[in-house]
Amino acid sequence: MAPGWETVKNNCTVCHSAKFITLQRGDRDTWESMIRWMQKTQGLWQFPDNVETTILDYLSTHYPPGPPSRRANLPPRLMPKS
Ligand code: HEC
Repeated sequence: MAPGWETVKNNCTVCHSAKFITLQRGDRDTWESMIRWMQKTQGLWQFPDNVETTILDYLSTHYPPGPPSRRANLPPRLMPKS
C-alpha cells in the first residue's frame, strides 16, 4: 500500500484479480501499452489524465522491470532420468 494504490484497486481489479497485475513488471511505457491494449480490445474505459497518471506512477514505481516472476526451467542435470 502506497499513495495511489486505492486508485489502482478501484480501476484495475474490476475485471480480473490483482494477481494479473502484480505478476507483471514493466516501465511506464510497458504499463501504458498494457492499458492501451485493454482499452482497444478488452473494453477497458478511458481514464481522466490525472487518474491515468496516478495509475502509471504507482505501477512503474512499485512494479518496475525486474526478474521474471516465473522461475527458470530446471537444468537438464536436475531432471529425472528418462
Ligand atoms: C474492462 C475490464 C478490465 C479492466 C477494468 C482492467 N483490465 Fe486488465 N485485462 C482485462 C482482460 C479481459 C485481460 C485479459 C485476460 C486474459 O487474457 O485472460 C486483462 C489482462 C491484464 C493483464 C495481463 C496482460 C498479459 O499480458 O498477461 C494485466 C497486467 C492487466 N490486465 C492490468 C490491468 C491494469 C493495470 C488495469 C487498470 C488500469 C486493468 N488491467 C483493468 C480486462 C480489464
